[in-house]
Amino acid sequence: MKEKIEALLKQVQQMQAQSADELESLRIKYLSKKGEITSLFGEFRNVAPEDKREIGQYLNELKNLAQQRIEELREQFEANKEAAEKQDLTRTPDPIDLGSRHPLSLVKEEIIDIFSRIGFTVEEGPEVEDDRHVFGMLNFAPEHPARDMQDTFFVEKEEGQQKPDDILLRTHTSSVQTRIMTTQKPPIRVLCPGRVYRNEAISARAHCFFHQVEGLYIDKNVSFADLRQALLYFAKEMFGPDTKIRLRPSYFPFTEPSAEMDISCNICGGTGCGFCKQTGWVEILGCGMVDPNVLESCGIDSKEYTGYAFGMGVERIANLKYRVKDLRLFSENDVRFLKQFEAC
Ligand code: PHE
Repeated sequence: MKEKIEALLKQVQQMQAQSADELESLRIKYLSKKGEITSLFGEFRNVAPEDKREIGQYLNELKNLAQQRIEELREQFEANKEAAEKQDLTRTPDPIDLGSRHPLSLVKEEIIDIFSRIGFTVEEGPEVEDDRHVFGMLNFAPEHPARDMQDTFFVEKEEGQQKPDDILLRTHTSSVQTRIMTTQKPPIRVLCPGRVYRNEAISARAHCFFHQVEGLYIDKNVSFADLRQALLYFAKEMFGPDTKIRLRPSYFPFTEPSAEMDISCNICGGTGCGFCKQTGWVEILGCGMVDPNVLESCGIDSKEYTGYAFGMGVERIANLKYRVKDLRLFSENDVRFLKQFEAC
């Protein structure tokens, strides 16, 4: 009997409850009619008369302790409940964790937005392409170095596969131009955004993939002046109304004449800084009049139609807007980097 009381004493001292229900089941376990402590009172009859006094006292102590402990726990719950009721329900809630859009998506969307205001619509094409659409129809000579494995990722043909030999990852979004020109009739006024791949060693300044937005406009009487005007409009919308542009002669197989466009450095405002290497200008895109050979190879009469095209790197524009020093940050998905664009 004594041992039983001692064991129960220990249990009662360590009694814990997480909820009012648990507390009630403890009360039932120990103190209800058939509870463990109550039934000890039943057994008390069999205790030897000389021990009755001592055991009786002991038993009463146990009962009191159990009642007290249960009461204590109950008070605790009630206090907690009261505290919960006292909470200020009019308090503004904790801020919701906002997701952020990727800086490259932000810039891409902005480019699209600007050109859509002057009539351009968006077209996309496959990233895995064939030689014809990436090079052939764009007037690249058969031995052009861009076709070299050093510059272009080719998709290897597996044994037994029917795939043609010249499947590759597109190196520029100009491939979408050829797809559009062969399937649509002028006037054509499209923007082709997308990811492109080049076989480059990955560093802070180069990556094996990046993003471009290409523009193409084909109609009767499209001139170089139209191209210049569209690009000036873009530069001012993107980098601010004081932005100036300059076009430098350049070469691309698919445009003639071709040019590269610089904008007045938006970091120093054109006075010269480290970013523009003290020149006051930064290059942002390539452009030109679509070469008649390209129009013809896509089935468009080059005597009736002319067109312009331009292509820019989204990372380049994002760098100018947000000054991201290391290109790799764009593809690492480090939340500390991405979170900075939450409010954009
Ligand atoms: N495709 C060229 C590049 O990847 C850019 C370009 C597009 C140039 C259209 C002229 C016209 O560099």
